[in-house]
Amino acid sequence: MNLTLHVWRQAGATAPGSFETHRVEDISEHSSFLEMLDVLNEGLLREGKEPITFDHDCREGICGMCGFVINGEPHGPKSKTTVCQLHMRNYKDGDEIWIEPWRASAFPVVRDLVVDRSALDRIIQAGGFISVRTGSAPDAHVVPVPKRDADLSMDAAACIGCGACVAACPNASAMLFTAAKVTHLGYLPQGQPERYARANAMVATHDEEGFGHCTNHGACQAACPKDISIDTIARLNRDFLKAPRKALAAK
Ligand code: SF4
Ligand code: FES
Repeated sequence: MNLTLHVWRQAGATAPGSFETHRVEDISEHSSFLEMLDVLNEGLLREGKEPITFDHDCREGICGMCGFVINGEPHGPKSKTTVCQLHMRNYKDGDEIWIEPWRASAFPVVRDLVVDRSALDRIIQAGGFISVRTGSAPDAHVVPVPKRDADLSMDAAACIGCGACVAACPNASAMLFTAAKVTHLGYLPQGQPERYARANAMVATHDEEGFGHCTNHGACQAACPKDISIDTIARLNRDFLKAPRKALAAK
């Protein structure tokens, strides 16, 4: 198939950006979207031009590196699918496609379609861990976990930190990401000692990093390639509200 691409080009965070138009031809419907961009980049390199910069690593939908907005939709038109797993059979010959980076002030553009998502790392550093004594590994079943809790924790742990939820949200909120991390640990016995402090610290860092507040639009859940539910945000809010009461009770 032959396509017209309008791709966002930007040299850096403070440089002005604009769309650049390219034609790609003879693209197989079996190619992934990233393979289609590889073909475009090979052509640009042959012409001595600067290739389009985009993030990727596993290309299997598991690492969270890839991601940009395609025709206004983070990760493109297919639900529960990362852009590396999106295939060109979802498009038709002659289509015009607009490609741009995640738009959020907390995600400054590094170059073209690559944004700096280290703000998400800093939210995890604030509380997305458990403190345990070091030493030999305990037996696997020494702390029993109810099946329901294990399943809900595992569902939340599916978050790959791609940032599509932020790009989809009209408030550029990272609440779905933060809630997934809080929920993942909050359902496990090992996550209980720091549960409320964790919610407080991660939400505080979320706000400091410049992400917006959740106003229940639900666009994050619709864009999430890992189907993280906004139920996790309700759970985060409950943990967050309990934190001050626990601190007061301790005084
Ligand atoms: S919640 Fe979903 S959209 Fe947001 S970072 Fe995690 S996997 Fe990506
Ligand atoms: S490249 Fe790893 S999830 Fe897309």
